[in-house]
Amino acid sequence: MRNHVTMLVLTLLTALVGAAFADGETSPGVAPLIKMNDGHYIPSFGLGTWLGVDRTNGTLIQVKDDSVQRAVEIAIDAGYRHIDTASVYNTEEQVGTAIRNKIAENLVQREDLFVTSKLWNDRHKREDVLPALQETLTKLGLEYLDLYLIHFPISQYNNGTYYEADFLDTWKGMQDVRGRGLAKSIGVSNFNLTQMKRLLAMSHVKPAALQIEVNLNLQQPELIAYCKANDIAIVGYTPFGSLFHNKAKKDAPPPRTDEQALLRIADKYHKTIAQVALKYIMELGVIPIPKSVTKKRIEQNIDVFDFNLTQEERDVMKKYNNGYRVISVDMWRDSPDYPFEKPTAQE
Ligand SMILES: NC(=O)c1ccc[n+]([C@@H]2O[C@H](COP(=O)([O-])OP(=O)(O)OC[C@H]3O[C@@H](n4cnc5c(N)ncnc54)[C@H](OP(=O)(O)O)[C@@H]3O)[C@@H](O)[C@H]2O)c1
Ligand SMILES: *[C@@H]1O[C@H](CO)[C@@H](O)[C@H](O)[C@H]1NC(C)=O
Ligand SMILES: *[C@@H]1O[C@H](CO)[C@@H](O)[C@H](O)[C@H]1NC(C)=O
Ligand SMILES: *[C@@H]1O[C@H](CO)[C@@H](O)[C@H](O)[C@H]1NC(C)=O
Ligand SMILES: *[C@@H]1O[C@H](CO)[C@@H](O)[C@H](O)[C@H]1NC(C)=O
Repeated sequence: MRNHVTMLVLTLLTALVGAAFADGETSPGVAPLIKMNDGHYIPSFGLGTWLGVDRTNGTLIQVKDDSVQRAVEIAIDAGYRHIDTASVYNTEEQVGTAIRNKIAENLVQREDLFVTSKLWNDRHKREDVLPALQETLTKLGLEYLDLYLIHFPISQYNNGTYYEADFLDTWKGMQDVRGRGLAKSIGVSNFNLTQMKRLLAMSHVKPAALQIEVNLNLQQPELIAYCKANDIAIVGYTPFGSLFHNKAKKDAPPPRTDEQALLRIADKYHKTIAQVALKYIMELGVIPIPKSVTKKRIEQNIDVFDFNLTQEERDVMKKYNNGYRVISVDMWRDSPDYPFEKPTAQE
């Protein structure tokens, strides 16, 4: 039964992705555009700009140099047109500087680019959304965002206290800023299926996109099927999951970059395992936003538009789906809105 449903979903997805690519919309960048339910277009590939967590003390890595600015400039040169940031990443200034530099160089115009940022957990009251977005726009030095997302369905002040703010109310604040033209499209991130169903049932405005973790270990068939059925674009974060030995937690399941079955597929197309993993995610109907601040990798990651996987290869890669989450935000598991599976008693 489960296999049957998954197959059906894959078939539908392939058809949908095909249809989106057949739109005939041209983009000045490398990645084809996908039309969202509000009529705006989103590039089917983007750059992440979160520097991650310091593994020695679990705190967010802070920007020390201009590496994010340089990464975004390299990315735009390489044909990226979609950049993902968030107020909590503390990278908005550098993302904005890079974008404004590339516009000043006449390489791109603002309307060629797709810029996403996210509302943090401490600004979930309806009246807080507009000032939060205004701060984001000031940091970016831009007049509007292409996509503004509720980062998590969790309302918590920065001192750790949870507070009452129904995400339906936050969503009204998101509609307010869209109405003012400060965000062309609005969406959510890290909402689970139950939360998505409630949002759609209780609101007149559908989210244009849902951003969730998608990688070989966490292929998200149910959420993807739900979004496809409801015409919601899916953006996939942490697309490499636990592929890289130096990044993976000790207990993370395979695959890593020495996985023989993946090496065979990568060799066949003269690609890396990282590229093959990104391709697989795209063929699920998901928009990957890999992060790198390394020129060679930024360029390598988007070089995935000249090959397609076969059904047999997708079947091999489907087997790695085991529900293992990299971003589990365990510290919020006591929140009434915690969106993920809670660890079982044995773990
Ligand atoms: N909505 C959310 O809650 C949420 C959560 C997490 C992430 N995100 C977004 O999604 C983006 C991507 O996720 P992520 O940053 O967690 O993880 P990721 O993109 O899966 O992995 C990034 C890591 O992979 C390395 N890397 C990139 N390309 C590589 C390649 N071709 N070969 C070898 N190593 C490579 C990078 O190293 P270098 O940079 O050193 O090259 C970096 O350490 C984030 O940056 C952020 O924008 C959103
Ligand atoms: C965490 O560790 C990093 C590097 O070891 C250090 O730069 C940073 O200040 C630390 N943060 C906290 C809050 O201790
Ligand atoms: C946490 O922060 C909020 C908002 O700033 C404040 O109202 C609340 O009193 C603080 N709680 C504690 C325990 O510090
Ligand atoms: C890959 O598939 C897409 C969509 O079906 C098609 O447009 C494209 O030409 C294919 N590319 C290659 C290299 O086969
Ligand atoms: C989604 O999150 C809510 C709130 O934490 C939780 O009650 C529910 O069980 C979750 N649903 C799924 C499908 O994980």
